[in-house]
Amino acid sequence: MRQPIIAGNWKMYKTHTEAVAFVKELAPALAPFSAVERVVCPPFIALAGVSEALAGTGIEVGAQSMHWEAQGAFTSQIAPTMLQGLVGYVIIGHSECRQYLNETDETVNKKVKAALAYGLKPIIAVGESLTQFEAGQTDTVVTGQVRAALAGVDAANLNNIVMAYEPIWAIGTGKNASSEIANRVVGLVRNTLAELYGKPAAETVRIQYGGSVKPDNMVEYMSQPEIDGALVGGASLKVADFTRLIELAAQAKGL
Ligand code: 13P
Repeated sequence: MRQPIIAGNWKMYKTHTEAVAFVKELAPALAPFSAVERVVCPPFIALAGVSEALAGTGIEVGAQSMHWEAQGAFTSQIAPTMLQGLVGYVIIGHSECRQYLNETDETVNKKVKAALAYGLKPIIAVGESLTQFEAGQTDTVVTGQVRAALAGVDAANLNNIVMAYEPIWAIGTGKNASSEIANRVVGLVRNTLAELYGKPAAETVRIQYGGSVKPDNMVEYMSQPEIDGALVGGASLKVADFTRLIELAAQAKGL
């Protein structure tokens, strides 16, 4: 069975001090659920403090993005070499980066390759907009994003990759995709991986759903056979909610 993975994407929330205090409270609460892989993705400024506070707890830390170059004259950017040793994961291609920060399929691909080259595990986010969803373009958009993100990525790297399907229309809107839609599109992502790498390899890759995941809809998502986890925004910002999500994920997968 694929190990469930729940990641909290904190986006631009919590100061360094708040972040460290938060994970000190979170770590003991999450301790009983080690069968689920648990990841927190704070803002860059808090990565060092959070990583230190979580050392030895089994809770992983992820960055929310990064540049693809090892170093250079790229004011404001963070290089993969700077994340090495601090984090295990890095979210790449989040729709908010695509929408507001000029992230494209091409930069996503460069970042995925760089992350893997530097030993960081990318959580690759894909998903369609509301207009695309309503126009029936979900499958074309999602398949295209998956193929572009993984162009030139070797099959040997697949076990270090997590995919996340996040329909843009369900992010922070409270308007979540039904578990049937989520499962179908996550299955589509897996089929795309199977086309690229073969079915056995695709079966090993963990694929998350993201978009208004809350304690009251978690079981529904996690009971779907294709969905291996969640990429959570708002509900990851409270210790009680995030802990409950992890607990429910464990229950839903019979762990
Ligand atoms: P919400 O859970 O707040 O909808 O955010 C989802 C998301 O974008 C996680 O990356």
